[in-house]
Amino acid sequence: MSHVSELIASDIGAYLKSHEHKSLLRFITCGSVDDGKSTLIGRLLYESKMLFEDQLAALEADSRKMGTQGEQLDFALLVDGLAAEREQGITIDVAYRFFSTDRRKFIVADTPGHEQYTRNMVTGASTADVAVLMVDARKGILTQTRRHSYLVSLIGIRKVVVAINKMDLVDYSEKVFRSLCEEYAAFASHLGFDAITYIPMSAFKGDNITGPSENTPWYRGTTLMGYLETVPVDEEHLQKAPFRLPVQWVNRPNLDFRGFAGTISSGIVKAGDAVRVLPSGRTSTIARIVTADGDMERAVAGQSVTVTLADEVDCSRGDVIACSDAPPECADQFETTIVWMHDEPMLPGRTYLMKRGNRTVNVQVTDIKYQVDVNSMEHLASRELTLNTIGVCNISVDQQIPFDAYRENRDTGGYILVDRLSNHTVGAGMLHFALRRSKNIHLQPMEVEKASRSAIKGQKSCVLWFTGLSGAGKSSIANALEKRLLTMGRHTYLLDGDNIRHGINKDLGFTTADRVENIRRVGEIGRLMVDAGLIVLTAFISPFRAEREMARSLLAAGEFIEIFVDTPIEVAERRDPKGLYKKARRGELTNFTGISSPYEAPETPEIRIDTTALTVEQASEAIIAHLKQFGILVNDK
Ligand code: ADX
Repeated sequence: MSHVSELIASDIGAYLKSHEHKSLLRFITCGSVDDGKSTLIGRLLYESKMLFEDQLAALEADSRKMGTQGEQLDFALLVDGLAAEREQGITIDVAYRFFSTDRRKFIVADTPGHEQYTRNMVTGASTADVAVLMVDARKGILTQTRRHSYLVSLIGIRKVVVAINKMDLVDYSEKVFRSLCEEYAAFASHLGFDAITYIPMSAFKGDNITGPSENTPWYRGTTLMGYLETVPVDEEHLQKAPFRLPVQWVNRPNLDFRGFAGTISSGIVKAGDAVRVLPSGRTSTIARIVTADGDMERAVAGQSVTVTLADEVDCSRGDVIACSDAPPECADQFETTIVWMHDEPMLPGRTYLMKRGNRTVNVQVTDIKYQVDVNSMEHLASRELTLNTIGVCNISVDQQIPFDAYRENRDTGGYILVDRLSNHTVGAGMLHFALRRSKNIHLQPMEVEKASRSAIKGQKSCVLWFTGLSGAGKSSIANALEKRLLTMGRHTYLLDGDNIRHGINKDLGFTTADRVENIRRVGEIGRLMVDAGLIVLTAFISPFRAEREMARSLLAAGEFIEIFVDTPIEVAERRDPKGLYKKARRGELTNFTGISSPYEAPETPEIRIDTTALTVEQASEAIIAHLKQFGILVNDK
């Protein structure tokens, strides 16, 4: 992918500059190599004279080599430039190409048709105005056509061209064309497209691409190029939408100037406009729109600007400046569609980062409402989202964020999901609406605070989080430690895996998804108990780094003490206090930690206990010593 973005950054920038006065249409093509997609793109490039001499010569040579019939150039050879594509016969990755005519300039994202590449399709198409769906006239509307149509509607493209290709191979039959149009229209009626345009064509022969074809006298509609040159672009639509400026940075060179810089995502702004800063909700007026070449009267969607406000209102990076009469809503729980793009499945309850333009927040999926089968559009029940699957979910973020529904604004309604530990992009999402509960539930301020609750107990509350394999000795050490703390006059509580799983977590088993939820709940309970002023001990395998980090992040610095009960699996298996290792080895117990389910050891625990060197009592004393060092057991009782 990186070569694609590099190409975009340098070449597209230079290219667009040389055609600045023309409007820009971004579109995507969907279909498989067999549908003639590459041939079509190649022909568009050729007809718009964007082929350079040397490319043309190479193309002619290639066409001869590949034995293309007659004098025809095989345009597919031009576009299918990637070696991998030629070898595998599938297009991988998104390739962006640009061309222009006298009327307009174009960027086409060529997205792959193969089933695995939902991800590329979503990435490549997220800024497109129009989708050209390739249909082979001989094969008709395929599962693939339906899948692409669904994805196209999902990412918010509202204008679709159904390119019924290879008409030359069905004798330019009007009947074939009409029946395919009807079939597609019936299927697409619930996808919410604004306009569907059907064009009979042959990309190979050139029918109805740039000029009307003599072979289809019964067709009076537009040619493909005619359509692409005249269809209204979303730029115009975006200017009509309410004003939104996500603030990218605050420019404060001296005390007299405070400018808010960013790219206008929708609407128009003028000096004197009444605005509202979100999420704070403070109001002000636009004082100036500043550029290096002097102030501007007005600025529109797509332009990068710096604005100043008439009043001293708080506004920082990640806030949104919006028109005051139609501001975005703020909320912290949403219904959303998520496209999962990573090998490791998305698990409800796990914390991910949600990146939206300039702001990053923590997010958890609280519920997968259903997964969408992209081939049949059926709703399926699901407990996790695997690679390339799409789910409609409820999510919860850890602060109020301003947003618009994705269908209104792709910037303020879209986001990507990033793994907190690896920093990889793992998904993309589209916000639908705020859950009513997020608008009607407000945090109630409490008058008695954690500090007073723990002060009256004469202690500093915290969580002592034991982690380690089954049979490592977590429960034994935690028990001994709790007894010891009690003799020291401390107020404690021990949350133990086996016990909690008999009560509040009795609905959970040992799949990865259930363990994530198990630890999420324990983390939340731990937080409440710390708030109550207790020293909380938790003894759970807690095999995943991500969830232990989540539990840590719920508490203040210094309140979460991770204690790694480090026992090699051979030793734990030899002890086998509950006979579970034997069962697991016999295959009678699935998902057993260390055998058929992973354990991710802590990298930098606050305390590490080597149980091959210490007895339970010694381990408990060692922990007491550490806690004194950390200032947890300050005032000796
Ligand atoms: S965790 O992985 O979700 O943190 P937890 O600590 O609550 O696990 O529960 C672990 C205990 O459940 C073990 O000590 C063991 O007694 C029991 N257990 C039953 N099945 C399994 C299994 N498949 N893997 C691990 N522990 C299991």
